[in-house]
Amino acid sequence: QEHPIPVIAIDGPSASGKGTVAQLVADKLGFAYLDSGALYRVVAFAAHQNNIAWDDADAVAKCAKSLQIKFIHDQVLLNGQDISNEIRTELMGKGASQVAVHAPVRAALVDLQHSFLQSPGLVADGRDMGTVIFPSAPLKIFLTASTEIRAERRYKQLLGKNQAANYENILQDLQERDARDQRRASAPLVMAEHAILLETDNLSIADAVNTVLDAFKKCKD
Ligand code: DC
Repeated sequence: QEHPIPVIAIDGPSASGKGTVAQLVADKLGFAYLDSGALYRVVAFAAHQNNIAWDDADAVAKCAKSLQIKFIHDQVLLNGQDISNEIRTELMGKGASQVAVHAPVRAALVDLQHSFLQSPGLVADGRDMGTVIFPSAPLKIFLTASTEIRAERRYKQLLGKNQAANYENILQDLQERDARDQRRASAPLVMAEHAILLETDNLSIADAVNTVLDAFKKCKD
């Protein structure tokens, strides 16, 4: 039997830095990259555009199934329109976390996520990459940091983009999102069995990337 295409699953809470780390690891290895959070953000955005309430599970799932989502380089296209910036707002982050609670919405995105798997490999980042979407991934990472550090990073990120930012509000939003992502019944954010825990409070991005690359080398041997 042929070797399966390797997947590096990187899960963790919001603003833990997993997106940056996952992308750098993918670049380094020449692997494809799946930003699964972006898919939930697109769904939240599309629902919002169509006046569908984020808590209406069936309507949001129907909407999710109808979407034509494409990733081209760093751009996220919805029905051909570049919505990369629109989905990166705090509001769409919150919306993504709300639509992601619904099992039928999650189900609507499974095939699309699996379609990212291609040779020579895939780095997938999200909340349930190692637990639900790619359970046989040979390498699973749980990347996290304290809420305060994550809030600070998000705060600086927003200031860097010249967006209004309030540390206390960001901290509170993060805590709400963490709680919702962890407590939902369907594919909650949990550390997968055999995952490697990476705490990044005192770890640079470069160190986190190298830790993942070293772990991948080891699991290949
Ligand atoms: O990674 P992110 O912050 O862009 O994700 C936005 C929200 O989408 C997150 O709060 C929960 C949801 N999400 C999910 O439920 N499962 C994933 N695999 C990725 C994201």
